[in-house]
Amino acid sequence: MPLSATPLDAKSLAAAVMRRCDRLAEHTEEPGRITRRFLTPPARDVQGLLTNWMRDAGLTPRVDAAGNLFGRTSGAGGPALLVGSHLDTVPGAGRYDGILGVLIGVALAEALQGVLLPFPLEVVGFSEEEGVRFNKPYLGSSAVAGCFDPVWLDRIDENGVCLGDALRAFGCDPLGLPTSALAPDNVLAFIEPHLEQGTALETAGAAVGVVTSIAGQSRVRVALHGEARHAGATPLGARRDALVAAAALVGEVRRLALATEGLHATVGKLDVEPNVPNVIAARVEVALDVRHADDAARHAAVAALLASAERFANDERCGFEVLEATHQPAVAMTPRWAERLAASARVTGHGGGRLPSWAGHDAAIMASRFPTAMLFIRHPGGVSHHPDERVEEADVAAAIEVLVDLALRLAEDHDSLPQPHPLG
Ligand code: HGY
Ligand code: MN
Ligand code: MN
Repeated sequence: MPLSATPLDAKSLAAAVMRRCDRLAEHTEEPGRITRRFLTPPARDVQGLLTNWMRDAGLTPRVDAAGNLFGRTSGAGGPALLVGSHLDTVPGAGRYDGILGVLIGVALAEALQGVLLPFPLEVVGFSEEEGVRFNKPYLGSSAVAGCFDPVWLDRIDENGVCLGDALRAFGCDPLGLPTSALAPDNVLAFIEPHLEQGTALETAGAAVGVVTSIAGQSRVRVALHGEARHAGATPLGARRDALVAAAALVGEVRRLALATEGLHATVGKLDVEPNVPNVIAARVEVALDVRHADDAARHAAVAALLASAERFANDERCGFEVLEATHQPAVAMTPRWAERLAASARVTGHGGGRLPSWAGHDAAIMASRFPTAMLFIRHPGGVSHHPDERVEEADVAAAIEVLVDLALRLAEDHDSLPQPHPLG
């Protein structure tokens, strides 16, 4: 297979990736910190800049009905190699979570410009992964993987805007969502480069690592119903304080996590009503985030926490209600593709060690329909979902070299590649 040009050097491309991460970090809903939720004006600004960079990299851009941004090489047809990650952020985010993987995809396209690949390379920026605005993660990749449930269009954000209207306001047509789903035959594999969001690679002294599996994740919202009463005049015995029951639940989440091997359980969100100092809490909504590599252990932990929550509610003579529970099973990456990535990491001198992911990723959704692998990039200090998020330019260059090698090997092997099949 004549691969005419030699790829551009990864070092200069990595420098551009770092500059672009800084540039995109300027687009935020909240001046002074990075917050870029699904379908917000800063999300549109970021899409505009990425579209220009994709064009400069020789990619043809498009936005699908879920607001996902794609950039595809012209030339060869057939199943595409998909590379990317998510565009949205949590509130007060770092500048690399998600967007780094999209920009590495664009850098890969730049590196391979002029190389006659026998398959399309398609860079993807998923519009929504964190699940912040509509309390539902992976909306973008769910559309691409064909598992977007139209009932989600009725979900509302904190301003009462429903997802369907938000899509229309962004210029997307929810009626077109079924066309966002890519057919398995049209995708060779999906590769997600992502910051590790941990310190395993730093400890191992490795620039990159190949993900073996992604931990399962349950997100459960419960409500505790008490009674608003005067904070001063109400005797203790007459109180039904929803916040006392909620506080007991928060303590139990940590106790159970400490007592259970491999369990990461968190309460990161409490909504207290009326949430004023001199009124006893009438209602508290508690958001549980429960993760484990083993699905049975995760479900057991969720059941135990819900039983405890009901007990704490009863002790405080409060009502108890499960508002919503969503469960994302643990997902193994596709072995054949993880090995391809690891082989490229080895031959490019960047290690190729394997590690699990505690964090959830679009790769967990994409793996339900396409061969999928993830490349982690060393994360000094491992602090994520925080402005202190960091990555070294040299490690970004390493990731680009690994992916260039992967693409060139695929090109060499292309005629022998078996036709893609789900989870191949
Ligand atoms: O929550 C997660 O693991 C990811 O950041 N969405
Ligand atoms: Mn994240
Ligand atoms: Mn992420």
